[in-house]
Amino acid sequence: EGKVSVADIIQAKKEGRRLVMVTAYDYPFGLMADEAGVDMALVGDSLGMVVLGLDSTVPVTLEMMIHHIRAVVRGCKRAMVVGDMPFMSYNTGIRDAVINAGRLMKEGGCDAVKLEGGVDFAPVVQAVVKAGIPVQGHVGLTPQTASALGGFKMQGRDAAAARKIIDDARALEAAGAFSIVAEAVPAPLGRLLAEAVKVPIIGIGAGVEVDGQVLVTHDMVGLFDRFVPKFVKQYTRTRPAIIDAIKAYAADVRTAAFPAPEHSFGMPDDALAALQA
Ligand code: KIV
Ligand code: NA
Repeated sequence: EGKVSVADIIQAKKEGRRLVMVTAYDYPFGLMADEAGVDMALVGDSLGMVVLGLDSTVPVTLEMMIHHIRAVVRGCKRAMVVGDMPFMSYNTGIRDAVINAGRLMKEGGCDAVKLEGGVDFAPVVQAVVKAGIPVQGHVGLTPQTASALGGFKMQGRDAAAARKIIDDARALEAAGAFSIVAEAVPAPLGRLLAEAVKVPIIGIGAGVEVDGQVLVTHDMVGLFDRFVPKFVKQYTRTRPAIIDAIKAYAADVRTAAFPAPEHSFGMPDDALAALQA
């Protein structure tokens, strides 16, 4: 049946099929997301925080994104791979945005790119789409500009702010975005966003009445828990299992319980005898 396409994503909303997106940052997680049957794997710039240990997504570079996108792409045979455009790779002008989106696609191998921003970035989205690169929008809480927004907090609380986010989504749709992530907005606004545009709204902290959901995989599987936002559901807690495994290994090494004979290579008796003669 092949790769999930832009047309498939748009069609899903028409048919009322909810879309599933998770983040992936390397080959094993690309493979697992693909095997689990997600529609889209997002190589999010959240990688800066959950796999590189940075305090925000601001320092993430185009080179880091390309490096991780390449690994995820190798694992995804069916899922569409969306690559995040990092901060300042599209904010400095339309020409820069097209060149850098092109690098993510050509060098990284992703199927689409995502960038943060609404009305103000519609001309950028339009130019990238015109260049032949599918674009996913991102409205509401936009982490790259969280400091300008006053921190990592819910957006669109009052009517004016909510209206502005609806305008953002409409502008992105008009510019040719094939879907739009809506992050950390009130659930009723999530519903209004989904009603306002024909392209799918992929929510993260946007309630259930949107067209699909995305979560950061490392949050969802409990691999990263330095901070867990309200909108995260932890489906498993991987960290304790891994820490316990490493501790058990450490104890085995220290007591010489590992490696056992079955983990060790033997040598023919005559070869050993000759060696020791
Ligand atoms: O970088 C990321 O993981 C994202 C999702 C939270 C949508 O942008
Ligand atoms: Na992101």
